Amino acid sequence: MTFEKNILCIGAGYVGGPTMAMIAYKCPQYRVTVVDTNPERITAWNSDTLPIFEPGLDEIVKKVRGRNLFFSTQIERGIQEAGIIFVSVNTPIKTFGAGAGMAADLQYWEKTALQIREASQSDKIIVEKSTLPVKTALAMERILTATANGVHFDILSNPEFMAEGTGIRDLETPDRVLIGSRETSAGIKARDELLEIYANWVPRERIITSNIWSSELSKLVSNAFLAQRISSINAISSLCEKTEADVTEVARAVGMDSRLGDKFLNASIGFGGSCFKKDLLNLVYLCRQYGLEEVADYWEGVIRINDYQKERFILNMLDTMFNTLAGKKICLFGFAFKANTGDTRESPAIYVSRRLVEERSELVITDPRALINAQTDLADIKEKIDFIEDPYEAAAGCDAIAVMTEWDMYAELDFEKIYENMRKPAFIFDGRNILDHRNLFDTGFNVFPVGKPSLTHF
Ligand code: NAD
Ligand code: UGA
Repeated sequence: MTFEKNILCIGAGYVGGPTMAMIAYKCPQYRVTVVDTNPERITAWNSDTLPIFEPGLDEIVKKVRGRNLFFSTQIERGIQEAGIIFVSVNTPIKTFGAGAGMAADLQYWEKTALQIREASQSDKIIVEKSTLPVKTALAMERILTATANGVHFDILSNPEFMAEGTGIRDLETPDRVLIGSRETSAGIKARDELLEIYANWVPRERIITSNIWSSELSKLVSNAFLAQRISSINAISSLCEKTEADVTEVARAVGMDSRLGDKFLNASIGFGGSCFKKDLLNLVYLCRQYGLEEVADYWEGVIRINDYQKERFILNMLDTMFNTLAGKKICLFGFAFKANTGDTRESPAIYVSRRLVEERSELVITDPRALINAQTDLADIKEKIDFIEDPYEAAAGCDAIAVMTEWDMYAELDFEKIYENMRKPAFIFDGRNILDHRNLFDTGFNVFPVGKPSLTHF
């Protein structure tokens, strides 16, 4: 069969895999190939156990894999055959040298640019899918045009806004698709070619275009605004705890103002995930590079409140459990950074686990999807922790439960049974406010939600 377009995606991760599966699913007329340097990841994409858990993803991959979606390690060949190349490699925070702990580490991205340049024998459109600092497209252009082999490249920015756990829905019905391009005739032609791909299933009014720098910046700003909302409500949760106000009631009252909206106002243990902190740090770094110290300080405050919220959670446990956690057995309900994913990158549970072990607690961790990642994240202190999939078994004999992830299943557990098998007095620290606190209190628990009055039997 001949296909209308040959699309390649470099990077078979949380973004590359699902986004390309959606394009292949919606556009049977295109051939989509996803390549990666990691052979195990590619083997997993070609197996019955995909390398990432995302509701609805298995079904789509099963439908299109081998039809017009292919996973491969043959990067050079993929580049040669493709007319459009999405780059969705990881862009973590630099851990070394200038900008360590702040700036984006662009080594994977630059390696990809060089690979594309070396292997290309025909003109190509290169699409930045990874989240990148503003002006990265300029660097990409410079790398790609550094040899005069007559191949022409157009660079587009097309940031991804999907969230994990709802990735398939976000990709199928996105709030918007953003395409940034150079405002030259070649840039606009390339932009229109990418737009045509999305127009196969996304309503035209939801596909927006902009200049390339606005597009790159919009991605960082979107994540910064989302994270800022969480830090705002979390900051208020601490004030609620001092004043007997209830953060859920405050969030409802505030969120009903249609100018503000009611989403992303759930007070929590703090935000996690691979991107919020990284993208905020990136924004802060960019501002400092341009001498905008006050702006940088402003956005850094969002991260500071997030760190404060996690530490506040631990100090609250310590304070409530008679100023010592040493020898106390504490069970973490959930380890993933949010529900419906096995991803644990930057999960607040990592911080909480390390702090609890530091306080010499005995730690038990349960999670329906993230226990393998949890063992990797805590590899250096693994022997001090029990990892148990069944929550009833995990909580048995514990002094306290701390909810880290808002898995629906936790709200449906039989807490009377759990209470019976715990040490007394039994504590619950609900870092996600998902449990029925009054009911737990009536069962016998001492209950400590986030941003709400505690319910105790003392
Ligand atoms: P990931 O780590 O899951 O996947 C990246 C993949 O790229 C890895 O499998 C890695 O092996 C591969 N890779 C690295 N260098 C390569 C190279 N030179 N050639 C081929 N493959 C290479 O990362 P991710 O979560 O998919 O994120 C990718 C980008 O998308 C990041 O910039 C991130 O900020 C952004 N983003 C992520 C999400 C999300 O939900 N995770 C959402 C929106 C945007
Ligand atoms: C986030 C954005 O929502 C996506 O639009 C973006 O594409 C993505 O980052 C990215 O660039 O990687 P994601 O991190 O997958 O998506 O998940 P979110 O739903 O945003 O949750 C992030 C964290 O905030 C989680 O730990 C979640 O539990 C927490 N959160 C979220 C709260 O604590 N309170 C809320 O009200 C909402």
